[in-house]
Amino acid sequence: MSVRILALVGSLRAGSHNRQLAEAAVKLAPEGAEVVLFEGLADVPFYNEDIDVEGGVPAAAAKLREAAQGVDAFLLFSPEYNGTIPAVLKNAIDWLSRPYGAGAFGGKPVAVIGTAFGQYGGVWAQDDTRKAVGIAGGKVIEDIKLSIPGSMTRFAETHPVDDAEVAAQLTEVVARLHGNVGEATAA
Ligand SMILES: Cc1cc2nc3c(=O)[nH]c(=O)nc-3n(C[C@H](O)[C@H](O)[C@H](O)COP(=O)(O)O)c2cc1C
Repeated sequence: MSVRILALVGSLRAGSHNRQLAEAAVKLAPEGAEVVLFEGLADVPFYNEDIDVEGGVPAAAAKLREAAQGVDAFLLFSPEYNGTIPAVLKNAIDWLSRPYGAGAFGGKPVAVIGTAFGQYGGVWAQDDTRKAVGIAGGKVIEDIKLSIPGSMTRFAETHPVDDAEVAAQLTEVVARLHGNVGEATAA
């Protein structure tokens, strides 16, 4: 049976290089793993406990929760905005962290990677994402790391799937995340 990995991207722009990384991960997933790119984070309203009530959850947030419930692991792609996690990704984590104690991350393996323009590739944002998603109930795989600097120049002409070094790194990331699902199931 194929391991399903949900990809969440912390950038909404059409030409997002993080989205391109996620597209590459979809294509490069090894046999036995399927990466599914979640579409629709732009429609998820800001988390608000007043609307997170039975019968009142907005459709876009319910769709996100439903997508997350059905997967075995998560692969989060984060650029860096002003030294930290973009609001869209934090918002998704907040929705998935509730109901308290029964959120969709539920101890499932989570890896965080990404690209940003700065020389460190967005490590602050990716570290902050690991912190938040761990508190939200995910089993963060701390040693899966990939922060690619110079996003706007490196991927200006080349899609990540056609960048041999990045493609190899992404393939390894997905394979290792897949391996962690196996370990979690065997434990
Ligand atoms: C509001 C904003 C804040 C940014 N802050 C940072 C930053 O703190 N560090 C950094 O490396 N890049 C920063 N950038 C540049 C982004 O890393 C770069 O545009 C990146 O490619 C965005 O990701 P995307 O291509 O997936 O949209 C910022 C960009 C925006 C729009």
